[in-house]
Amino acid sequence: MKIGLFSSLFLAFFISFSSFFLGNHPEKTSNSRIVFPPIDSLSEEILGEILFHDPILSLDSSISCASCHIKEFAFADTVPLSVGMNGSLGKRNAPSVMNTASRESLFWDGRANSLEHQMHFPVQDGLEMALKFSQAVQRVSQHPFYSKAFQKVYGQKPDSSTIVQSIAAFERSLETTNTPNDRWMEDDTLNGRGLTPQQISGRNVFRSDKAKCLDCHFTPDFTGDEFWNIGLFNGKELNDSGRFSITRNPQDIGKFKVPGLRNVAVTAPYMHNGMFKTLSDVIEYYDNPSKFVKNPINIDHRLSKPLGLTSKEKADLEAFLRSLTDDQFASKFPNR
Ligand code: HEC
Ligand code: HEC
Repeated sequence: MKIGLFSSLFLAFFISFSSFFLGNHPEKTSNSRIVFPPIDSLSEEILGEILFHDPILSLDSSISCASCHIKEFAFADTVPLSVGMNGSLGKRNAPSVMNTASRESLFWDGRANSLEHQMHFPVQDGLEMALKFSQAVQRVSQHPFYSKAFQKVYGQKPDSSTIVQSIAAFERSLETTNTPNDRWMEDDTLNGRGLTPQQISGRNVFRSDKAKCLDCHFTPDFTGDEFWNIGLFNGKELNDSGRFSITRNPQDIGKFKVPGLRNVAVTAPYMHNGMFKTLSDVIEYYDNPSKFVKNPINIDHRLSKPLGLTSKEKADLEAFLRSLTDDQFASKFPNR
């Protein structure tokens, strides 16, 4: 009886995160109520998922990872800059945490080299969760649910490595491979379930020498984990120097990590500073960067002249970007 009650509460917890990829813009999901599942039902990923949604990892217990990485939006944020501790505004746009299993570097400037390493930053960042990592470990260890849960999953008390391991395991489970584009690549004779004729044209534009998208966004996740400068640094109103802030190599000024493009249709706004609201704005930017940013410093040579895309090519390209959204989440994670 008791277990039945717990699991239905557990279900209620996950259902509140379940209205996936609605296309329109529902309110941000609140993460205030955590209902803990029965210990026996736990796996490493589920434990990580619960911690990801639990504000216990922030100084005043008001903010969880999920406050800025919202499930309905492929675990990205819907605002240009996320709000952290005490209403402070972060410095960059929160990207999706999906499809990060193969990433070699994380963050827009690549300052973390694994999901485990990455996690220390938001917890301790004064503008985000503002909690010393040692304090986070102490809190989790003293919590009645987590002390039992970590014993079940790892055979030991929570410590800094198992805490990051569990959240990283959850993040690694968020791979999306079932998109119209993936299905079409497997079998291009599919009727209706693969790419539409417009998306196929858009795919050709994406791969063309004219648009050059594939030069930097290559498969399977549409990023080669490299850093490039697409012209969003001019040292004035655009003054985030990106990769340079880590390497101090002048050639890296204004370079940012090439973001993967899976689920990009649901992760607006775009770029490290969230300056573009729609995919169509992004495409207009690539078509002619100088219409948007004057005197960019160190812009990549591939983008130094307008691409000259026609309006049909732009529309087709956008249709292709929309074919990179996994439409199977609802059935893959039925209750979460
Ligand atoms: C206050 C908002 C906020 C909170 C809370 C937050 N993040 Fe983030 N997250 C961001 C922002 C902003 C970035 C990009 C920062 C940058 O690149 O400098 C980011 C980047 C990331 C990335 C890198 C993704 C990539 O493709 O490079 C991962 C992974 C991630 N966060 C996971 C987490 C986890 C796990 C937690 C909880 C422990 C968390 N975040 C809490 C805002 C937040
Ligand atoms: C020279 C390498 C390069 C080329 C060519 C390129 N991109 Fe990008 N792309 C990047 C980088 C780097 C960023 C992140 C830049 C930033 O935030 O300052 C980015 C960001 C994006 C984003 C925003 C994603 C997000 O989550 O915010 C989209 C969408 C995108 N590119 C699509 C395209 C398309 C479509 C093309 C072809 C017209 C293209 N890119 C060509 C390197 C490139």
